[in-house]
Amino acid sequence: MAMEQTLSLIKPDGVARGLIGEVIGRFERAGLKIKAMKMVQLSKTQAQKFYAVHENRPFYDSLTTFMSSGPIVAMILEGEDAILRNRDLMGDTNYQKAAPGTIRADFARDIEANIVHGSDGADTARTEIAFFFNELEKY
Ligand code: CMP
Repeated sequence: MAMEQTLSLIKPDGVARGLIGEVIGRFERAGLKIKAMKMVQLSKTQAQKFYAVHENRPFYDSLTTFMSSGPIVAMILEGEDAILRNRDLMGDTNYQKAAPGTIRADFARDIEANIVHGSDGADTARTEIAFFFNELEKY
């Protein structure tokens, strides 16, 4: 097992539905440490940059409009195998396939508005953390 950091976002639907505490509580109860946290609202251009890897997907425009539609909470989570453990806590991108008890199975009702985002690998985690946080904002 390796000590890792990963980026977690509570998306606009999660914030609007009052699920910030619920989501953070699940991370903390799972033993993941919150190393940095902020609430921000992305511009459409910033959302397009963050999700640039998906720019050729049919959902790119809708996704980036949604992700810039309201405030989000960005966090750095740290722990042993944090990248995979965060993804296990979130559940499958498609809430209909997500395992019972995961965040998306419990709360998401839409493949796009699916409450949370989490980095999918070590390289992505580094890039995504650097997108949201500078050195002064981490402890
Ligand atoms: P996320 O884990 O943030 O990564 C890309 C996002 O695109 C995904 O969660 C969903 O919010 C959104 N999305 C919308 N439609 C799809 C789809 N058909 N497949 C995958 N992701 C989708």
